[in-house]
Amino acid sequence: MNRTFAIKSYGCQMNVYDAERMAESLVADGLVEAPEDAADIIVFNTCHIREKAAEKLYSEVGRSVSKAKDAGRRKPVIAVAGCVAQAEGAEIANRARAVNVVVGPQAYHRLPDLLRAQNATGAAGKTALVDTDMPKASKFDVLPQRSRRAASAFLTIQEGCDKFCAFCVVPYTRGAETDRPMDAILAEAQVLASQGALEITLLGQNVNAWHDPSDKQRDFGTLLARVASVPGVQRLRYMTSHPRDVTEAMVRAHADIPQVMPYLHLPVQAGADRTLAAMNRRHDVAFYMGLIERFRTVRPDIAITSDFIVGFPGETEEDFQATIDIVEAVGYAQAFSFKYSPRLGTPAAERTDQIDEAVKGERLQRLQAAIAAQALAFNRRTVGQICDILIERRGRRPGQWIGKSPWLQSVVVDGDFAIGDMVAVEMVAAWANSMEGRVMTPAKRQAVAAW
Ligand code: SAH
Ligand code: SF4
Ligand code: F3S
Repeated sequence: MNRTFAIKSYGCQMNVYDAERMAESLVADGLVEAPEDAADIIVFNTCHIREKAAEKLYSEVGRSVSKAKDAGRRKPVIAVAGCVAQAEGAEIANRARAVNVVVGPQAYHRLPDLLRAQNATGAAGKTALVDTDMPKASKFDVLPQRSRRAASAFLTIQEGCDKFCAFCVVPYTRGAETDRPMDAILAEAQVLASQGALEITLLGQNVNAWHDPSDKQRDFGTLLARVASVPGVQRLRYMTSHPRDVTEAMVRAHADIPQVMPYLHLPVQAGADRTLAAMNRRHDVAFYMGLIERFRTVRPDIAITSDFIVGFPGETEEDFQATIDIVEAVGYAQAFSFKYSPRLGTPAAERTDQIDEAVKGERLQRLQAAIAAQALAFNRRTVGQICDILIERRGRRPGQWIGKSPWLQSVVVDGDFAIGDMVAVEMVAAWANSMEGRVMTPAKRQAVAAW
């Protein structure tokens, strides 16, 4: 009988992508994917970005082990991958004895070998196998070809970060910024498209800092054009962009390349210049607003989203108010917001002017209310639009489906569809987090002028 595995992924889209590639490499090695409560091996693909995210790992490992015990099953082999694995390495196995394998984000192409070695030693191998190397040769060169079929697919083009924002662990967990070669990216896009991907989202911690390693003239703008021309790719998205790496070609792509969706995730983190400087974000508010203006000039309907941190050390009420101001000035279509979480080893964690948890909580609430108001306003502006949605999943009621609009809104629609269908709808109602769409008959669709 083949051994079975389940992967539980936390954190960002890059972790989702990595989980898919780990699954593909385990399947290529003869393992079979199974539900978590039936799996011989459970891989936790972890996130280290905030304290809560990391703490979650230990309770989840404990829970999986006791669930197996309660069901009278053998203890599953536990592998920890992802950013907590990189940051804490062997410490993880000291703290959670149930952990058998620890593998970092740049070493997971070796996961099949580690699991085989672990299996060979069996119960005798009491100490966990740890591989948190950041090898020079890229994992991408040895991972098996993509085999996952999906209408919407992620594709990592760039990893790591050299920016060292004062609050962030990513430069330590993912290592230095490295770009994949253009040819490798295009080859992967072709495979994904030939397996049914209509939408590709290019991923990177600083996705728009990408340059072809063998030809620095080819920048992110060039890459967007090339991926967009892969046969079958109808929609192209990318995240996360850094304001400092925005280029004119990237802005123009939103006007000139029909496949590039009217959506831009451009995190600003905070609205006060003082806070941005303390965060080491390397730009001020005026610079950021200038970028937004440039995107809106070429693509007035573009949906702009951001990440925010409240309660960064030293943040005053006035600084926080400036964050509310920028939310209102930009008119975000959506945004993620977090309480600042001190991370060991980052400069901001050393500061003595940490903000009280209760103040952070209260600011987060006010910020989220401001974001929701802007999101609702954005969604209302799209009522009456005719657009295609890409069906992603079933809705709550029978016959109800949920698809994504070009602006990445979740659109609820009634009809007889399947996942992966591209469906023309008219947007008929708006909420802060979703839209209602009505299917267009072909005749009506023709009668409505394009906007
Ligand atoms: N590379 C991206 C962000 C990657 S991390 C960028 O530069 O924008 C994703 C988000 O997590 C960040 O945008 C930030 O808002 C949040 N984040 C990162 N470190 C954090 C911390 N220590 N506490 C709270 N939120 C944090
Ligand atoms: Fe973290 Fe800043 Fe790098 Fe983004 S740019 S990953 S926030 S260090
Ligand atoms: Fe988390 Fe690592 Fe992504 S810390 S946000 S999983 S890069």
